[in-house]
Amino acid sequence: MRRSGCLLASGALALGMLGAERTPPGVLLLEVQERRSVAPSPLQRRAPKTVEEVITNEKARGGYFSTCSVGTPPQDVVLLLDTGSSDTWIPASNAAVCSRRFSTDPCPLGSFNPSDSETYREFIQDGLEITYLDESYVFGDYFQDTFDIGDSSVKNMTLGLGLNTTLNHGIVGIGYMLNEASVRTSRIQYDNLPVALAKANVTNSVAYSLWLNDFDSQMGNILFGGVDVEKYTGSMMSLNVTTADNSDEFDHFRVPLTSVQASSPSGSDTLTTTSYPIQVVLDSGTTLSSLPADLVDQMWREVGVDFSAVLRQPLIPCYRKESPGSFTFGFGGPDGPKVIVPMNELVLDITLGQPPVFPSDSPYKGQDACLFGIQDFGGPPYILGGTFLRSAYVVFDIVNNQVGMAQTDFNETKSNIVPFPSYGAAIPSATAAPNQGQTDTPPSGTAPDFSASTGFQNAGWIPGALQLPAILAISLAFWAAF
Ligand SMILES: *[C@@H]1O[C@H](CO)[C@@H](O)[C@H](O)[C@H]1NC(C)=O
Ligand SMILES: *[C@@H]1O[C@H](CO)[C@@H](O)[C@H](O)[C@H]1NC(C)=O
Ligand SMILES: *[C@@H]1O[C@H](CO)[C@@H](O)[C@H](O)[C@H]1NC(C)=O
Ligand SMILES: *[C@@H]1O[C@H](CO)[C@@H](O)[C@H](O)[C@H]1NC(C)=O
Ligand SMILES: *[C@@H]1O[C@H](CO)[C@@H](O)[C@H](O)[C@H]1NC(C)=O
Repeated sequence: MRRSGCLLASGALALGMLGAERTPPGVLLLEVQERRSVAPSPLQRRAPKTVEEVITNEKARGGYFSTCSVGTPPQDVVLLLDTGSSDTWIPASNAAVCSRRFSTDPCPLGSFNPSDSETYREFIQDGLEITYLDESYVFGDYFQDTFDIGDSSVKNMTLGLGLNTTLNHGIVGIGYMLNEASVRTSRIQYDNLPVALAKANVTNSVAYSLWLNDFDSQMGNILFGGVDVEKYTGSMMSLNVTTADNSDEFDHFRVPLTSVQASSPSGSDTLTTTSYPIQVVLDSGTTLSSLPADLVDQMWREVGVDFSAVLRQPLIPCYRKESPGSFTFGFGGPDGPKVIVPMNELVLDITLGQPPVFPSDSPYKGQDACLFGIQDFGGPPYILGGTFLRSAYVVFDIVNNQVGMAQTDFNETKSNIVPFPSYGAAIPSATAAPNQGQTDTPPSGTAPDFSASTGFQNAGWIPGALQLPAILAISLAFWAAF
């Protein structure tokens, strides 16, 4: 009997494991589903909660999830996919966060009870200690057990057991092994999921591709061991991953962001910062993105952000989702990959229910307020999270320390999966970006003249075209009346 593996979290797509039959050998395709918000845990609910907490608590708020199972017989768990961390852990059924004292279903995405698994083995006691960027945390043990993902099963996989945590769901960390909590706490480096999949011969190399897809579609996928060449447009370019202080210690998917262009029907601006090249971490586990303050200020001015002193958040009228403006992010110098991020990926609903409205002292008084998805968290590290990653098709090659990047093809249903042919093979279909050491933006100080801002702020504004038919229609109506 096949184990249940990774099925979908909800009935959104009843097909289940899309493409499991069609994928070539050497790859593992896993669907990921976006969840806008995860029910808060009772521990969090006991404390008075502000809107600001809801918004900034990224790991608890939403992200991309997939269902896996742990142990024998398998216990299903829905886990957050995170390229920014490296441990896979599951909340323990007896952790306070999953306690039924305060709620009937406190851990709706599943938890793990070691005593119900015949194949469970203790590994490192107290070795699991992670505090995420948003200050959510997990403390606990490491254990080894069978882990089912997609249609594959990894025996003796090292996993974390969350005993004291603020998160009521687990995380699949698929980053570099050097960033495992056990390296810090116990000086033990273990084979985490991408490596374990290669060692189990599920994949040929330690690499995977992430296609998060459109915000409105809520469904994307992660492909371990291959590239789906139908899921992006233009050509795929690869970049060297950079390290802090140019050491050879790769711990994050860090790449140089070397230009940001703002474009709308009214014009185009090259945005400046004293921080180019900005070393940005590609982090699927974070919803928002964080960039240097001087750059963020210019982006906010382009789109017309009204910073709320009360919520301490950059707000924008929700209708600007429809704005024809976009930002183009350039990486690895003038000849590197470029990714266009449209406004509907950057304007986010604040809550699931009725949106709040702007107060009377705001220029947008009375209009529905949304959140702008690029902020300044006070980095470095600077982060490109979900608000950027949805617009890109990104390949993470852990063996060669390369990232492949191309413009995503939203909602593409065609598929042509090319596996990495062997361990350490280069990213299929990618060409290395030339001149990666260069920057392509004029020295900072040359502030843009914000010629794109009118076009960003008039949603649906088309120069010339719109005015003419409108005037014609009015005069025709006038004529008919006479
Ligand atoms: C499981 O893996 C560990 C190393 O992480 C190894 O020490 C142990 O022998 C393995 N157990 C089995 C049953 O394969
Ligand atoms: C859980 O960890 C937090 C943060 O370190 C600590 O303050 C708290 O006392 C711990 N709770 C338990 C039950 O150990
Ligand atoms: C994976 O394949 C290699 C080469 O064919 C083989 O030596 C190794 O035993 C296989 N490993 C597993 C876990 O099947
Ligand atoms: C993708 O599909 C969703 C519906 O599933 C739709 O709302 C969205 O507009 C589509 N995106 C694009 C870019 O076509
Ligand atoms: C990328 O890194 C490799 C290995 O460090 C180096 O040999 C190569 O020159 C780098 N490529 C570019 C374009 O910088």
